[in-house]
Amino acid sequence: MLDKIKTLFRVVQDSPVLTKEDLEQFRIHFLGRKGILAGLFEEFKNVPPDQKKETGRILNDLKIVIQEKIDASTQKFEAPEETSISQLDLTRPVNYMEPGARHPLSIVRNLIIEIFSRIGYTVAEDREIEDDWHNFTALNFPEEHPARDMQDTFFIEKNPDIALRTHTSSVQIRTMEKNKPPIRSIFPGRVFRNEVISARAHCIFHQVEGLYVDKDVSFRDLKQTLLYFAKEMFGENTQIRLRPSYFPFTEPSGEMDVSCNICGGVGCNICKYTGWVEILGCGMVDPAVLENCKIDSEIYTGFAFGMGIERITMLKYQIKDLRLFFENDLRFLGQFKGIF
Ligand code: PHE
Repeated sequence: MLDKIKTLFRVVQDSPVLTKEDLEQFRIHFLGRKGILAGLFEEFKNVPPDQKKETGRILNDLKIVIQEKIDASTQKFEAPEETSISQLDLTRPVNYMEPGARHPLSIVRNLIIEIFSRIGYTVAEDREIEDDWHNFTALNFPEEHPARDMQDTFFIEKNPDIALRTHTSSVQIRTMEKNKPPIRSIFPGRVFRNEVISARAHCIFHQVEGLYVDKDVSFRDLKQTLLYFAKEMFGENTQIRLRPSYFPFTEPSGEMDVSCNICGGVGCNICKYTGWVEILGCGMVDPAVLENCKIDSEIYTGFAFGMGIERITMLKYQIKDLRLFFENDLRFLGQFKGIF
């Protein structure tokens, strides 16, 4: 008998009740006076006493399941087809929808774009999957040069090499190949490196690159442009400092520090008690790079700079762990509500 009841559970579940007629048939079949359940209760009388308890319990469960299915279907068929407008309570409060917030990286990216567009920079974007020429070779990274090791990445194909771009400098090349000077553009975008993920590094991050190529562009223009940017981004009292550095595609090259916006330059744990924090790399475009893009380096000069958006955002909003940007935790993202 137990097996029979167990099979019936499935039969009840699988019986389609799509119309009122189905429902009536279902009810008569299972609960009618000569129906399945009545038969089972009849049979129950002959169950040996030691099995009565268990069989009774399961039989009752079956009855409940049948009744529930009937109740649910009855409700479904009795519900009015459509609620007319006069029956709607238009004064009922609506469900509250939490307003969203822009991602902090988008906020800072837009701010950088806005600051540079005020001094005439246009914006260009390009592909994230790059060939060797645009990511390395045209930028004066010869094959086998150790500078390539600093930017290990994820290769999609070898020979010819196709890889996830390691920096937005590839867009410098694409822009110079397509346009004649004067060129004054910034290139925001996502970049990739084979890095161990930590509070300060990630395999995915964002950069904004800048490029200015024209006649008579000098290091003074670079310095003044970057000072303007630093003041707009971190406040009027911000100071900058340039340190000599090396990049294959700029000569001379520098790294720029800004006076720490947390302690105002006195020294704190964010600036490691130096009063300065590094925010970008820059330099005068190497003549070889101009020539690679068929721009006459006897006539034109230029400067370029590149910064990490995560880094600037961390400084601006005092965020201590870079991984927070990619975790989508609403407790973090919700703090940027109302900032555009
Ligand atoms: N592309 C460099 C990097 O990712 C930054 C840079 C850009 C340096 C432009 C100089 C000029 O590290």
